[in-house]
Amino acid sequence: APLKINILTLFPETFPGPLGTSLAGKALSEGKWSLETVDIRTFARDKHRTVDDSPFGGGAGMVMRPDVVDAAIDAVWPRRGPLIYLTPRGKVLDQAMVRRYAAEPELTLLCGRYEGVDQRVLDAWDIEEVSIGDFILSGGEMATLVLLDAVIRLLPGVMGNSESGEDESFERGLLEYPLYTRPADWQGRVVPEVLLSGHHAKVAAWRRQQAEEITRQRRPDLWSGYAALKKNDFNKG
Ligand code: ADE
Repeated sequence: APLKINILTLFPETFPGPLGTSLAGKALSEGKWSLETVDIRTFARDKHRTVDDSPFGGGAGMVMRPDVVDAAIDAVWPRRGPLIYLTPRGKVLDQAMVRRYAAEPELTLLCGRYEGVDQRVLDAWDIEEVSIGDFILSGGEMATLVLLDAVIRLLPGVMGNSESGEDESFERGLLEYPLYTRPADWQGRVVPEVLLSGHHAKVAAWRRQQAEEITRQRRPDLWSGYAALKKNDFNKG
């Protein structure tokens, strides 16, 4: 069944945006996923269509009102999958979370603007808070695009035959090995000889060694997890 995606936002014109192009866009027109955007402002009750107010206790910026956000969430109920709020305070997105989301029948994403959303509406709906990394965007819309791009490429039939959707090296907890194509000599920079050898086992061993080396150098966090697994495999014989 196609993945149903609901997006609650003050800027519905943001979507599908880049998700309407390339592989994701083709999959959208083929019905492999569908998109419903809900304009949160349509749930404001006063004549000025107010969606935010100043924080109790003082401080800078504005907070999205719980009653308005609640009414917007209610409009997409009953939901059959997780309700996700994009915020730098959330659990940092990783490929395991992306795989879990890609297996759901429906995803609902709440995009905040201003300083954020009143905590009570997050608590009342048991919302999953997700961050796309340790930096601050001006709103949840771009974070939603990033999360959805990662999810949509994993949907059945979205990627071409040449790509599995699961980069083998990354799935083992390593960064990818370096890639080369023609010409074999470009401005005096030559492709590693083993890749021209036709020895599949030697190529595989070289790629593994390269992936391990670059992961160890660049991502000690990933490397310690991988090194622990590798040691465990060895001990199991
Ligand atoms: N909204 C603002 N910054 C964000 C981030 N880093 N991740 C998710 N949502 C956000």
